[in-house]
Amino acid sequence: ATNRTFTMIKPDAVRNGHIGGILSMITDAGYKIVSLKLTQLTVTDAQAFYAVHSERPFYGELVEFMSGGPIVAAILEKENAVEDFRKLIGATNPADAAEGTIRKKYATSMGENAVHGSDSDENAAIEGAFHFAGREQF
Ligand code: CMP
Repeated sequence: ATNRTFTMIKPDAVRNGHIGGILSMITDAGYKIVSLKLTQLTVTDAQAFYAVHSERPFYGELVEFMSGGPIVAAILEKENAVEDFRKLIGATNPADAAEGTIRKKYATSMGENAVHGSDSDENAAIEGAFHFAGREQF
């Protein structure tokens, strides 16, 4: 079925000038952009967004990194959006990311890995609503 996922182009990729390259890979893969903006997470936003990781040793580093510069937030629509997007972005660690994936091309490390992709339909809806009002979802 056609459904939606949520993505962020993370601060490393924005800083390194890869917004255009990453959006091209996304639209070339057949995604329709439903919502799109350049924004920045506050520390409180990043803590809330990544609350599921709050007990992990890298949580502080993750929150600092994700709130440390502008990001691009987007909602994307396609057949099988969530699962196909996880394939398109590749493994969390760019060293393990397959050829042709966004992280293979643009990620620099496990923490600074260029893009986020929702891991379920339920989280895609929660994460999309975190960033976009209903009138911003086309
Ligand atoms: P993502 O899967 O988008 O969301 C959770 C993020 O935590 C993950 O991307 C990485 O950026 C980060 N992360 C996961 N494991 C580590 C780690 N071992 N060290 C630093 N950051 C990590």
